[in-house]
Amino acid sequence: PDGGMSNATELGFEAVAVSTANSVVVPTGYTAKAFLPWGTPITGSYPAFRADASNSGADQEQQVGMHHDGMHFFPIDFKAGGSRSDEGLLVMNHEYINQSALHPDGPTYTSNSMRPTDEVRKEVAAHGVSVVHIKQDGAGNWDIVFGSPFNRRITGNTEMDIRGPVRGYQKLSTRFSKDGTQTRGTLNNCSMGLTPWGTYLTAEENWHGYFANGSATPPREQTRHGVGSASRYDWELAEGGDDQYVRFNITPTAESAVDDYRNEANTFGYMVEIDPFTPESKPQKRTALGRFGHEGVIFAPVEEGKPVVCYSGDDSRFEYIYKFVSSRPYYAATASGYLLDEGTLYVARFNEDGSGDWLALALDDPAFMARVEAAQGTMVGDVQFEGFENQADVLLNTRLAADIAGATPMDRPEWGAVDPNTGEVYFTLTNNSNRTEEQVDAANPQAENRTGHIIRWSEGSSDFAATSFQWDIFVFGGTQGTETVVDGEVVVSLTDENIFNSPDGLWFDYNGRLWIQTDGSDAPPYQNNMMLAANPATRDIRRFFVGPQGCEVTGVVTTPDVKTMFVNIQHPAKDWPFGNEGDHPRDATVIVTRNDNGVVGA
Ligand code: FEO
Ligand code: CA
Ligand code: CA
Ligand code: CA
Repeated sequence: PDGGMSNATELGFEAVAVSTANSVVVPTGYTAKAFLPWGTPITGSYPAFRADASNSGADQEQQVGMHHDGMHFFPIDFKAGGSRSDEGLLVMNHEYINQSALHPDGPTYTSNSMRPTDEVRKEVAAHGVSVVHIKQDGAGNWDIVFGSPFNRRITGNTEMDIRGPVRGYQKLSTRFSKDGTQTRGTLNNCSMGLTPWGTYLTAEENWHGYFANGSATPPREQTRHGVGSASRYDWELAEGGDDQYVRFNITPTAESAVDDYRNEANTFGYMVEIDPFTPESKPQKRTALGRFGHEGVIFAPVEEGKPVVCYSGDDSRFEYIYKFVSSRPYYAATASGYLLDEGTLYVARFNEDGSGDWLALALDDPAFMARVEAAQGTMVGDVQFEGFENQADVLLNTRLAADIAGATPMDRPEWGAVDPNTGEVYFTLTNNSNRTEEQVDAANPQAENRTGHIIRWSEGSSDFAATSFQWDIFVFGGTQGTETVVDGEVVVSLTDENIFNSPDGLWFDYNGRLWIQTDGSDAPPYQNNMMLAANPATRDIRRFFVGPQGCEVTGVVTTPDVKTMFVNIQHPAKDWPFGNEGDHPRDATVIVTRNDNGVVGA
């Protein structure tokens, strides 16, 4: 972008009204079209989608998964330093599933309460990530490049390596990987991150729900996340005892951990690196970035010879925001995933005076060690704390380490974004109805926060590796008249052009406009979930897009020229997007373009 930041980030469209329609609403002069709905064949024998949802598990392994979430568009010439906007790889997450919609008549159980194996196979395959090679035709329409070697499905059963400090730790030993270096699958992939070297990181968010532990005293690395005695989809009940489904039962059954799956859940909760340009590459779980309910990750701009810095939120009530700073310096010529394997993980403390501190979670950090020693033998939350074995144990129990460090419990940190013009870091705090008056603080100032807010900060001396920062609140969600006040001045007062609640997805486009997506109450006055655009320089915020009924709007990216925008619709209701009699709802990507082929949002 050229100079004049507020020009480049000015909003040039008329806000759309709230909507209850079962269709997408975009401003006058724009067109929206559904693309890559759940079940679209992208690999192998390209099995056609069956409208009655009767495709098999094997078919689903070759089709786009369900519940689209975070995504990124990689220009096809990315590796050569190019920025083609007419062809690329669209990589997207499939967070979870709607079991009723995935099968013709929902999930079924047999008389002994087991589940038909192919149903479970299909559910596992509808999770994970899709890599889709797409290209515009002469008329500007986007299509899949059929037969492209880049098209790929990664599922809840794809083999992956564990990397970083937790690799090989005995608490990751399983029957599948006795030495704790590998696992199968990535699950509940919410938001994502783009690395400076052009790979995709997918986040494992609510992974705890996939496992069942029937033992009376589950270990702290499970209890702190809420692993229970029953799993969300009962995959461990697949008939036939196939090892790939048995592993979801993490109740200890054998003498030793190398003979059962008691540690399987310890191989989830990470950021997972996928190289979309190397289709045969194995995904890599990057444990140095911590283990928690990762929503996504956002990288700070890189500089030659400086560390790589990235931020990740833990989306659960009263959880934290983290920052990773690599030990090794970034050099464009040699940068790759190894940079994410050694470094310091910090957690944020937001002080009442608008300053903040990054607290290291490292056994070689004296301040952290002092707190660990003080906590020894005490109750930390529900955990009787008896120390950490080593740094791998700290990372495996990242939430517990952050509790001990004295981090600030936040109102459900979801996506982050870095302003390309100013370097300020923004995070959505989606809501937290459980916060009491006694628990209110300056960064989370609302009791029973149902509508959420967006916080932002600048790092000390504009050095992303700094251990202190200055923060303020960018905007509060809410009804008409909700004010955001800075230094006694009302900087935003919401109107019917921009009321919203529960900000979740967040992305700066390549010109520096901020896109805010919602996943909240779809009752009046907000109606269906939406996406707004913001000018960060002026806090002018306008509703740009409203999703269909029942959905959340999550995942947004554009082509480098910002003329094609991709927006994901997750868990739509009824017969969206095609509206044919008897259709199952299908998550899909929506392509938004300007009818005059201009820049989206300008
Ligand atoms: Fe998957 Fe926190 O949203
Ligand atoms: Ca979601
Ligand atoms: Ca989310
Ligand atoms: Ca959410």
